Amino acid sequence: MFDFKFDWDESISVGVEEIDEQHKELFKIARDIEQMVLIRCYGITSEMVIQVLAKLREYTTYHFYFEELFIRQMDPQYLKEHQEKHKKFRNIILSFNNDKLKKSPNEVLVEIGDFLKRWLFEHIVIEDKKVFK
Ligand SMILES: [Fe+2]
Ligand SMILES: [Fe+2]
Repeated sequence: MFDFKFDWDESISVGVEEIDEQHKELFKIARDIEQMVLIRCYGITSEMVIQVLAKLREYTTYHFYFEELFIRQMDPQYLKEHQEKHKKFRNIILSFNNDKLKKSPNEVLVEIGDFLKRWLFEHIVIEDKKVFK
């Protein structure tokens, strides 16, 4: 398992404050998911699990929209390629099934957490930095 704790530090900064703040918020949601996994969803209701996934979906949509507007101005040639990467991420996030999440929340949250550890880190550090730095 890729070990990344969603702790923010300056090495993750893309150099644009607003984008950094949004990435921090994504980390915060990822940490909430990690917390639920850590306690094996003990005392966590299915509504809470559905809610955290909804938040991840909503915030990701908002962040990608915002970031793409920014890239359109800074590096329009790279926009299409970057949009494709966002689309892939969004599709995976949308593919986590709410019914399965209700039945076996811990199992699905582990999957989501692992996916976020790989994707968020790699995308921000490699792809976003390519545009903003
Ligand atoms: Fe981003
Ligand atoms: Fe991005």
